[in-house]
Amino acid sequence: VLGVGTVGLSWAALFLSYGYCVRLWDPQPGLQARLEEYLATVSLERPLPSHAVQELATVCATVEEAVAHVFFVQENSPENMGTKRQLLKSLDGLCSPSVIVGSSTSSFLLRDMIRDCATEPGRFVLTHPFNPPHLMPLVELFGTVDASVEAAAEFYRSVGRHPVTMRKQLPGHVANRLTSAIFREAVWMLREGIASVEDIDAAMSQGPGMRFAHMGPFQTYHLAAGDGGIAQYLEHLGPSQEARWASLGQDATLDEATKAQIVAGVEEMVRGESVASLAGKRDKTLMAVLKARGRL
Ligand SMILES: NC(=O)c1ccc[n+]([C@@H]2O[C@H](COP(=O)([O-])OP(=O)(O)OC[C@H]3O[C@@H](n4cnc5c(N)ncnc54)[C@H](O)[C@@H]3O)[C@@H](O)[C@H]2O)c1
Repeated sequence: VLGVGTVGLSWAALFLSYGYCVRLWDPQPGLQARLEEYLATVSLERPLPSHAVQELATVCATVEEAVAHVFFVQENSPENMGTKRQLLKSLDGLCSPSVIVGSSTSSFLLRDMIRDCATEPGRFVLTHPFNPPHLMPLVELFGTVDASVEAAAEFYRSVGRHPVTMRKQLPGHVANRLTSAIFREAVWMLREGIASVEDIDAAMSQGPGMRFAHMGPFQTYHLAAGDGGIAQYLEHLGPSQEARWASLGQDATLDEATKAQIVAGVEEMVRGESVASLAGKRDKTLMAVLKARGRL
C-alpha cells in the first residue's frame, strides 16, 4: 500500500482483516504510529487478526522495500498528476512483470497516468474505491489488458469487494457520475428555492436512498410497474420520466453565492455536530446495512 492517508489506511485495514501481509510506505514520517492508532479504532466487517499489527503489517522506509516480493500494489498517493506519473514510472521499473498495480485515482485517466511507463504498461489498472473502502464494497476497474483487470478483480473479490469493470473511461467513472447527476439537481433545487438543504437530503435518504442500498436505478424501475417489469414501466411511465428529464436543472453552478447557500444549509442541518461524530454514525449505519444484506 503506497500513499497511506485516508484511503491507503482504509485499504490496509481491509487487506489485513482478510489476513494478507501488507507492506506500507508513505513519505510522511510517523506512519507506524498513525497505522496503529487507525487500526485500534476502525470499524471493520471482520475483526483484525490478533497478530495483524505485529506480524502482517510492515512499514517500509522506501518504495523499493515496500514492493519487494508483493503480488499486488495499491497506489493511493495524492490526486496530483505529477506525483502519480513519477510513482507509477518508478513502480514499472521496480516491480516484476507479473505484479498488478492498482491506482485509487478519483479523476485521472489511466492513459495519462501511465504515460511514462514503458516496461509493462498493461499491468496498471485503475481501481477506484468508494470511501471508506474497508466498508464500501464497490471498486471500479478500468485497464487496457483484460488479464490484468481480471487479476485485480479476483484480488478485490478475495477481500469481499464488488468490482465493476468499465469498458471505456470517463471522468468520474460510473458511480461518481451518478452521484454528480444527483448533486447537480440537488444544488439546482436549492438555488431555485424548491426545498432546504435538510429537506433535499431527507428526500434522498428517507426515500430513494433506502432502495439504493439494495439495488440500482434499473432494477428500481423494474419493480415499479407490476409484473410486466421494466418493459411495462418504460411503456407506461417512460413519457413521465422523459418529461422530468426535460425539466431537470441544466445551469447548476458552484459560484460564491451558491457555495455560501450550501454551507449555511449544511450548518443548519448538522446543528454543530462534528464531522467525526457524523462519520462515526455513517459507519455504524453502513455496518448495519452490510449486515442486513447478509454479508456478515
Ligand atoms: N478520499 C476519498 O474519498 C477518495 C475516494 C476514492 C479515491 N480516492 C483517491 O485516493 C488517492 C488518495 O487520496 P486520499 O484522500 O487518501 O489522500 P490523502 O491526502 O489523505 O493521502 C495521500 C497520502 O499520500 C502520501 N503521499 C504524498 N506524496 C506521495 C508520493 N509521492 N508517493 C506516495 N505517497 C505520497 C501523503 O503523505 C498521504 O499520506 C487519490 O488518488 C484520491 O483521488 C480518494
